[in-house]
Amino acid sequence: MRRLPGYLIACLVAASLPAAATPLRGQARVASPDGRNEITVEIVEGRLAYSLTRDRRALILPSTLGFDFRGAPPLRDGLRITDSARQSHDAWWTQPWGEVSRVRDHHNELAVTVEETARPRRRFVLRVRAFDDGVGFRYELPKQAGLGTFEIQDELTEFALADNSRAWWIPSNWARMDRSEMLYSSGPVSVLDSVQTPLTMESQDRRTFMVIHEANLVDYARMFLRGNRTESRVLRAALAPLAGGVKVRGRTPFVTPWRTVQLADRATDLSPSLLGLNLNPPSAIDSTGWIKPMKYVGIWWGMHIGTMSWGSGPKHGATTENTRRYIDFAAANGLGGVLVEGWNTGWDGDWIKNRDAFSFTQPYPDYDLEGLAKYARDKGVHLIVHNETSGGIRNYERQMDSAFALYRSLGLDAIKSGYVTDNTSEGHSHYSQYMVRHYRKVIEAAARHGIMLDVHEPMHDTGERRTWPNMMTREGSRGQEYNAWAGDGGNPPEHETILFFTRLLAGPMDFTPGIFDLMLERGTGTPRRPDEARIRTTLAKQLALYVVIYSPMQMAADLPEHYEGQPAFQFIRDVAVDWDTTRVIDARIGDYVAVARRERGGQSWFLGAITDEVGRTLDVPLSFLTPGRRYVAEIYADGPKAHWLTHPLPVTISRRDVTSASRLRVVLAPGGGQAIRIRPAR
Ligand code: NOJ
Ligand code: CA
Repeated sequence: MRRLPGYLIACLVAASLPAAATPLRGQARVASPDGRNEITVEIVEGRLAYSLTRDRRALILPSTLGFDFRGAPPLRDGLRITDSARQSHDAWWTQPWGEVSRVRDHHNELAVTVEETARPRRRFVLRVRAFDDGVGFRYELPKQAGLGTFEIQDELTEFALADNSRAWWIPSNWARMDRSEMLYSSGPVSVLDSVQTPLTMESQDRRTFMVIHEANLVDYARMFLRGNRTESRVLRAALAPLAGGVKVRGRTPFVTPWRTVQLADRATDLSPSLLGLNLNPPSAIDSTGWIKPMKYVGIWWGMHIGTMSWGSGPKHGATTENTRRYIDFAAANGLGGVLVEGWNTGWDGDWIKNRDAFSFTQPYPDYDLEGLAKYARDKGVHLIVHNETSGGIRNYERQMDSAFALYRSLGLDAIKSGYVTDNTSEGHSHYSQYMVRHYRKVIEAAARHGIMLDVHEPMHDTGERRTWPNMMTREGSRGQEYNAWAGDGGNPPEHETILFFTRLLAGPMDFTPGIFDLMLERGTGTPRRPDEARIRTTLAKQLALYVVIYSPMQMAADLPEHYEGQPAFQFIRDVAVDWDTTRVIDARIGDYVAVARRERGGQSWFLGAITDEVGRTLDVPLSFLTPGRRYVAEIYADGPKAHWLTHPLPVTISRRDVTSASRLRVVLAPGGGQAIRIRPAR
């Protein structure tokens, strides 16, 4: 079924027909507004299949659609198309915060209804949207006599890739372990086993970048992609299981998440990724004025490098006195928030096993919750409440509403949550429908109480922030914390240059940049050998990450004392966290990235450039600046002999007058970076 020789010819003939005249004889097509991306939906040997072309070049060959149900025959075979409908849409909308402020949703839509030719004549609709930056499709199961309540054993969606593209991937070993905190590998699609999305691929002829992901995951299981040994370029949807193995329980009418394929000619065009946002419903929060991006510090890194503890005792980090110190530091440096981990009881002993022991309202005796809330409020600082659940979902849900109400009554409007666990106590996968529902419940409860969220060990991002802009940021990948842990190996210098084109295409990431004590000497008092825990970047690269890795809540992750007397800290004070415009200037996945972003509501631009273990020089034209205006570039560059391994600390800070006609020679040390603030000249 895969390579029908007549298929492309039929397509070309059909392509010359006007859209309205597309015959209903088993095939329908829809193209993006610019005409480049085209999806064909057709019946092939009784099965519904879709295929995708760009500029008439095949990217996805006819690929089967359908479902395998428990206790019922698969909904896949003996189908016929009974109806097809089209519409177009073109409208702009504004993000309350984001990488860009205005987003255009311009697409053509095709909805194809199919029905089984034999009893029980079940039917479904495949809704397809074609945008200039990619396509999305989803299944809709209408209410019908032959299909009421159901259990999905497998979603049968395939992605039959036309060529053996190179993919950047992390595995999804969900049968054993539920983690997204892994290092990326790259290689041909034909060797993939089971991988997570977003899955970023580059075609062999290097003409197309393609990213498979999903959007608007509301009441379903998270999708992974499973490779296939016999048909090596065919990836299949693989859903995270509930306890017992069923993937999704539902009843008609029912709608699945969108399966998305983002498309671009160049890697630099992949970001910012807006396709998934356009496939989520508009904001459900009427007045979003209280939702504000911010920078924050936290009682956090100390626990990871071992100088503080979450639990009670002599090293307890979350003391009233220590928290006041952090609040003072944030206030003095214009940072919006202070995160405090380990403030609530439940951390003593094995907090991962004792997941149901966490209280979300009871502070440790040495932590004055109410007094500190007032202290922070008086200084204009948001005290960010930490809720580690360890996956004790029922324990959290039981307490959630009263805890959120308490926080709100104290004026606390931001939570960082955590889900350090593999499966839940009930045996559901971390990424199952059960957890999808849970994460949504938390977002909605937080919205009701006027609370912003930063979720660690989250569900992967499928664009929820459009509907729920209080869902600010999340982890969901290997962040800075891995650099603190001896024995784990840390993140290699290339890591963030891959994250930018994989995890970050799903949405913002709370990576927690800004470690200045790169050898981790002062934290522990012990100098580090290269193979021990340390940060594998230069200091200038830590600064550049504030621009490169987008997050509306951006941490200054190091201990406040490590910023004292450091001129480079000025960049962290100055850098914006909310953007009007984003331009990726130059990049190669896994090698380097240079991004420029203009701050929301201002005229300053910030530029971040990072490289892997290879030093390199980029030539950056400043043509994005407003012509005729004079600017000052404040440049934080890798200093003399800077090198992530031997000399991570030297930073040279300089100033230069620039205009839109200037070019900057951006020199990056091995494992290095450069951060630049470009502000209008006074
Ligand atoms: C893992 C999170 O990623 C980290 O930020 C947090 O400190 C710990 N869990 C404890 O909740
Ligand atoms: Ca984590």
